Order: sequence, then C-alpha cells, then structure tokens
Amino acid sequence: MERESQAGSALSAQSPTRAVAWKTGSTLAIEEVQVEPPKAQEVRIKVISTGICGTDDHALKGLLSANFPLIPGHEGAGIVESIGKGVSSMKPGDKVLILIIPQCRECSACLHPEGNFCEKQDVLPSSGLMLDGTSRFTCKGKKIYHSFRASTFTEYTVVPEIAVAKIDAAAPMDKVSIISCEVPTGYGAAVNSAKVTRGSTCVVFGLGGIGSAIVMGCKASGASRIIGIDINEEKFPRNLKKPVQEVVMEMTGAGADFAFEAIGLTDTMIAAWDSCHRSYGVCLIVGLAPSSSKLSLKASEIVSGRTLKGVCLGDYKTRDCTPQLVIDYLQNKINIDPLITHQLPFDQLHKAFELYHAGKTKRFTYIPLFGKVPHQPIFSKRRKMHTI
Ligand code: APR
Ligand code: ZN
Repeated sequence: MERESQAGSALSAQSPTRAVAWKTGSTLAIEEVQVEPPKAQEVRIKVISTGICGTDDHALKGLLSANFPLIPGHEGAGIVESIGKGVSSMKPGDKVLILIIPQCRECSACLHPEGNFCEKQDVLPSSGLMLDGTSRFTCKGKKIYHSFRASTFTEYTVVPEIAVAKIDAAAPMDKVSIISCEVPTGYGAAVNSAKVTRGSTCVVFGLGGIGSAIVMGCKASGASRIIGIDINEEKFPRNLKKPVQEVVMEMTGAGADFAFEAIGLTDTMIAAWDSCHRSYGVCLIVGLAPSSSKLSLKASEIVSGRTLKGVCLGDYKTRDCTPQLVIDYLQNKINIDPLITHQLPFDQLHKAFELYHAGKTKRFTYIPLFGKVPHQPIFSKRRKMHTI
C-alpha cells in the first residue's frame, strides 16, 4: 500500500530556524519559512545535523550558477517527517542522509556501472527548484529557492526520494551528516576513484574538509608519502620561493603517483596536473571550480600518459553506497570523528561561518534545535602528514 504524507500542511516552526540568503554575498538571515508538504516522490525531513562545505561557500559568493533567495546547505542527516505519494524506500521516523547527487537508477549515468552523476542532479546547472519546477519554501510571501535540491540549513526540508538514503538506525545523527558529502567526496576520491596504491606518493591540494578526508583515504590505502598543500599558514607553514609543482617535483624526483585538487581553483588544478608523474600519474579534480572558469593545459604534454579525472562524491552511486559507509563507521572500519572539529547549535550559524572563513575548521557539524552540544572542538589535534 502506498504510504502518503503524514502531515498534509505547510510547517512553520515555533521559533525561526531557517537560514535564508536573500542575495549573493549577503549575510545569512535567520527567518521563519513555510515548508510545504512533500509532493509525489518527495520526502520532508527534519534536519538533525548539517555541515558547511566549500561548495556552499562558493554558491553564496555567487561563483556557481544559483538562484536567490535560497536556503543553502546540502550536507545533512535527518529523520523522515512525512512522505509524498509513491515513496516506498522510507517511512516517517527513518534516519536518512540527504544527497547532493541523487541516484534515480534510470538515467544513462545511473545505469552505467561506472557512472554516478545522475541526470536528475541540480548542481550543474542549479535551477533551485524541485523536479516538477516548483519550490517548497516561502518566506514573507516570497518564493525561496532550494540549494541543489537539498537545502539543509533549515529545521525542515523537502527533498526528492531519489536524493535520500535510508541509513542504519544506530547511526549517531550528530556526526553522520558528513557521510552525505565530505566523506564520500574525499575519502572516496582516494579509495574508490583513484584506488590509491600501497607505497604510492600522493599530493593533496587544499587541506579543508575534503582534503582532510582525501588524506584519510590515502592513508587507509597504504600510501607511503602524503604531501599536503594549503595557503593557510596554520596548515602549511612554509613560504615557497618557487611554484609549488616545482617543489613537488624536487621532493618526489619524477612526480607524484596521485595528485588531488580539493580547492576548486584552476591554478591549483594546473599545479596538481603538473605535480603528477608525466607517464603514469593520475590527477583527480575534486574541487568545484567557478561556473565561468576554463582550464588551460599544455596540449602537447597530455600524450605522455598522465590521466586527468574529474570526481564527484568519490564515484559512489550515492543511495547504494553511502549507507554502507555509515555501517563501516559503526563497525570501526573507518573513523570519521577526526574530520569534525566543532559542533555548534544552529543559532550560531554566523559564528560557524566566521570560524570557517578564518580557516579554523575541517568540517562543522552544527545541530539545529538540538539540546546540549559540545562547544569545544571534539578533535583538535592536527593530522600527522608530510607538508612541504
Ligand atoms: N592554494 C592552496 N590552498 C588553498 C588555496 C590556494 N590558492 N585557496 C584555498 N586553499 C585552501 C583553504 O585554505 C582551505 O584549507 O583550500 C582549503 C579548502 O577547504 P574548505 O574551504 O574547507 O573547502 P572544502 O569543503 O574542503 O571543499 C573543497 O571541494 O567539494 C569541493 O566545492 C568544494 O571546491 C570545493 C572543494
Ligand atoms: Zn540517474
């Protein structure tokens, strides 16, 4: 029997709990927003935890194609509050992850064994609307756009069923939100996309949340040397006198086996490419570059054998694979705890962004409407790695 929405009316919280970006570059406003019930094949979710990802920051700065006003955020874990007609893969009360890339299981990407960039995604480009071309959010009588059909900076959100993964009931909801984006994107890029080999040398450009998860994946795969690069002096203290790719070449002799770009800038993408061994090096682009930018490589150097590969969410088929990552975490096969440096309640969203911009975080998990949460970092020790 089809299960239908339990709550058939728009939700409006007792206290205002939704962050709205009214225009590009504006400070996020905490507003009261009406959240419509889910339509057919949609799910309304109570968000329990969410994180700030570089992609949200790029979107808010107007570097990606996005419509405003919007409710930002895409990395989240929550509990199903109600379901629309035809939803069969979850029911109210289930714990779920919200996925920036859906898995429709019908399109050319989903049907291909190697594909995961589902054609029903709303990132490249981003319409800010649900699959039927409408929004589920209004604020002060105005339509509010969705962010990548995820919008997690809110107590309640509405998401297509194909962009939701049901997870183990034992999952700690204050932590597993990073398994909706950061962990598959970074850890997956190393272990699943690059298939980093034992004894290899890896270079990671950008030591934010994604870069840190890449380092974790390289380490788990048995890389013997991991070189981390960042402009933040706390993460990367040395002032280089020459281009970083030249330094990497000197350090490695002939170039790295694997280079990862986890920043989203064309200059660092070129530096990552130039850091790879020219015959067998593999350069993985994980960072999302501004929509208007173009990458320029020396064409004659491509023939030598290097591989350039774009990676989204670690090439994982999102609904199939993220629940397994949660189980791996519960079974202590992977440890995501070091990737969470701060936990703040939702009303400290602005402080969270301040800390993010000051480069003091790997990833935040902040918790809307949750009672007591630690205000101290739960992990502040720097990961041990070779930095140049
Ligand atoms: N050179 C080196 N490091 C840089 C540079 C640069 N020119 N510019 C920024 N960085 C560093 C920052 O200091 C920071 O440590 O890159 C890191 C980026 O980390 P975050 O801002 O935490 O972003 P993250 O969530 O890790 O995402 C990185 O991956 O998913 C994509 O869109 C996302 O493009 C973004 C990238
Ligand atoms: Zn698909």
